[in-house]
Amino acid sequence: MSQAREGDLVLFISKDRRRYLVRLAADGALHTKNGVIPHADVIGQPLGRAVQTHMGVPFLVLEPGTDDLIQELKRTTQIMFPKDIGYTLMKLGIHHGNRVIEAGTGSGGLTLALARAAGPTGRIYSYDSNPQALALARRNLEGMGLAENVELKERDIADGFDETGVDALFLDVRHPWEYLVQARAALKQGGFFGAIVPTTNQVAALLDGLAQHAFANVQVEELWVRGWKTLPGRLRPMDRMIAHTGYLIFARPVESPFGLVIGHGAGKIVWPPDETTADSEEE
Ligand SMILES: C[S@@+](CC[C@H](N)C(=O)[O-])C[C@H]1O[C@@H](n2cnc3c(N)ncnc32)[C@H](O)[C@@H]1O
Repeated sequence: MSQAREGDLVLFISKDRRRYLVRLAADGALHTKNGVIPHADVIGQPLGRAVQTHMGVPFLVLEPGTDDLIQELKRTTQIMFPKDIGYTLMKLGIHHGNRVIEAGTGSGGLTLALARAAGPTGRIYSYDSNPQALALARRNLEGMGLAENVELKERDIADGFDETGVDALFLDVRHPWEYLVQARAALKQGGFFGAIVPTTNQVAALLDGLAQHAFANVQVEELWVRGWKTLPGRLRPMDRMIAHTGYLIFARPVESPFGLVIGHGAGKIVWPPDETTADSEEE
């Protein structure tokens, strides 16, 4: 985005860190307790600068990042945190043109990020059994201009998925191990499977299920992100952090694993492969 245009989503941030995600309209205006900024002051101008309200209070005007969009979503369900979403996109190898299934849609947090990452040539098939969740997710995606490459489907995923040969499939439901037959039927061989669950009991049940259904290269991971105060003279972490969100589980559906390692720790990637170290990885 070099210059802001009518219809663009932009982010206004005040000195006290209030954030306003706004779609620019020629006759629109942002009303804040510190005054009004007509959108006309932004349209046709470069982003990444400050503008002033009619009361002379400055606001930053920025292009929003994916995490900004996620933070601004209306939600009725727990949405995945940006830290988990970002890592999931990488672990599932999501890129332009991918076909991806996810369930449940919830408020559309992960859906939004998948839609951005898979781009206009990709396709996201997002399932939820709750029509209210789907309606909210649809409004959220449309509001962000990201509904076009997303198909929202009202379905209990126990009844299976419509698609086959998809590149990746992610489950954010309470009992993901109950849907591994359906997941295998939808995923391409060797595709990317992922799930998030909040408790270790669920992780254990999912690990059992993955082993029974010939998923390989299983990984269980947990991410901690610690924010820091940005004062150079008193540089230190914030007092509080989000201590727990969920455990991420990733695996690949394979054929004939011949008892090959079904699960292992994150391990050390040796590249190029070296026969002297290849077998030394700890179980
Ligand atoms: C925690 S929310 C998903 C949040 C979503 N990943 C996000 O980032 O916004 C879980 C959703 O899964 C849906 N769900 C649970 N079990 C399901 C099933 N068997 N089939 C379809 N949807 C299901 C629920 O209705 C709920 O909306």
